[in-house]
Amino acid sequence: MEKELVIVLDFGGQYNQLIARRVRECDVYCEVKPYTISLDELKSLNPKGIIFTGGPNSVYDDASPKYDGAIYELGIPILGICYGSQLMAYGLGGLVKTAPVSEYGHTETIVDKSSVLFKDINVSENDSTICWMSHTDYIAEVPEGFRAVAHTANCPVAAMECRERKLYAVQFHPEVMHTREGIKMLRNFVYDVCGCSGDWKMDSFANATIKQLREKIGSGKVLCALSGGVDSSVAAVLLSKAVGKQLTCVFVDHGLLRKNEGDEVEQVFGPNGNYELNFIRVNAQERYYKKLAGVTEPEKKRKIIGEEFIRVFEEEAKKIGSVDFLVQGTIYPDVIESGLGDSAVIKSHHNVGGLPSVVDFKEIIEPLRMLFKDEVRKVGRELGIPDYLVDRQPFPGPGLGIRIIGEVTPEKVRIVQEADYIYREEIAKAGADKGLGQYYAALTNMRSVGVMGDFRTYDYAVALRAVCTSDFMTAEAAELPWEVLSKVTNRIVNEVKGVNRVLYDCTGKPPATIEFE
Ligand code: XMP
Repeated sequence: MEKELVIVLDFGGQYNQLIARRVRECDVYCEVKPYTISLDELKSLNPKGIIFTGGPNSVYDDASPKYDGAIYELGIPILGICYGSQLMAYGLGGLVKTAPVSEYGHTETIVDKSSVLFKDINVSENDSTICWMSHTDYIAEVPEGFRAVAHTANCPVAAMECRERKLYAVQFHPEVMHTREGIKMLRNFVYDVCGCSGDWKMDSFANATIKQLREKIGSGKVLCALSGGVDSSVAAVLLSKAVGKQLTCVFVDHGLLRKNEGDEVEQVFGPNGNYELNFIRVNAQERYYKKLAGVTEPEKKRKIIGEEFIRVFEEEAKKIGSVDFLVQGTIYPDVIESGLGDSAVIKSHHNVGGLPSVVDFKEIIEPLRMLFKDEVRKVGRELGIPDYLVDRQPFPGPGLGIRIIGEVTPEKVRIVQEADYIYREEIAKAGADKGLGQYYAALTNMRSVGVMGDFRTYDYAVALRAVCTSDFMTAEAAELPWEVLSKVTNRIVNEVKGVNRVLYDCTGKPPATIEFE
């Protein structure tokens, strides 16, 4: 039986993968395709439904992305979101205008519950629910055959439908959590309009990916960049299951790892570990410290660390001989935050933006590129990777290099490693890690005056960070119990030489990011 597929047609919005992910959460397989895909190719995929994404443009700009109007005649259900809704209205003869009042954020939206989109959603007495809006244009008049099925104080067509043609559109973003009933609306679309039955689970992803990898790699040799973090571990196990000993995992100890981490990774993936693969540990600490000496600018540090990684891999690959593929555990948030595609660069995640342009491999394989962190964890569990590895908090590729503000030196690395170890140990002892997405100690570049015994000190301040997040795109600072914070503070200033002050970072993301650099 052919797998049910919903296509997200990407018109350049911020949330394209998020829409796909929400559909997958409804147990329906979903993939994002660019709006440049031809109608024939789209038809050949035989989708059960199509979702048009939002985008930053106005349909009246000549340069704005459009699509062949014949798509509306295929009989395939379509849901337009934000720009996608305006595109549908415009393409079918409705009127799109600049709204007299732009709407941004939480917006009370009155819905017509007779529309299948709003089946079983919770509404207040006046049939309203909170939806998340972000638009300057709006649909002023629906096309012939359509009816408006939701409105707000400033937007006459917050949703429209043409039931007979299975065409639906919403001005708001059902995929973001701020739209309270958004997931149900997407669910209604894929089940009740598209007729999906929900035949897809994460293990289908694992099995299908293993099969695809096997086909693609054939008898070729593969090198995997293994950091021991969740993403690269899951990628490595997928590859190990696909091609076994054709895979060599290279683990670079760049001297920017957490305390004891190098040995822990070796235990799991090394010769005495659980998996069928070749494992090489490269001790490259000195090499990294040399390259990073005197460098303070965060992007420069990231680029150096990323580039050095690739160089080490290339060298290892040469030793192995005729390596065709390089595997990386890049996941979706890495891709968008590095500004691939049309979104703005926040940071160059190494593995992605930090990649040098000349890379000595035939091809780079990134099997997790379309998944969010929690989806990667699900795949990990499906693959039977032990919970302690799968639930491990994320650790960035550039490691402590981006948790030391300013220049990286071996001495500063020692300070962060010790402080971070104490912090993690105390959180574990207190059982305070429930609900935390990520927590670590960083070294600020600030030194300040203190007093220890009868002596003046002029030492570094360590910053503690702990955030609650599930998708790592947004995060809130965690409210850690004071007893834990004060115990950690005490231990750090007493046990870690060179630190006389401990600070707690109360900032969310946005406006901060999770890492310091
Ligand atoms: P930020 O700091 O951008 O971090 O809010 C979001 C998540 O991404 C991790 N991160 C990275 N992971 N390579 C990685 O593999 C990187 O260069 C990188 N930079 C940040 C970060 O730890 C958090 O989980």
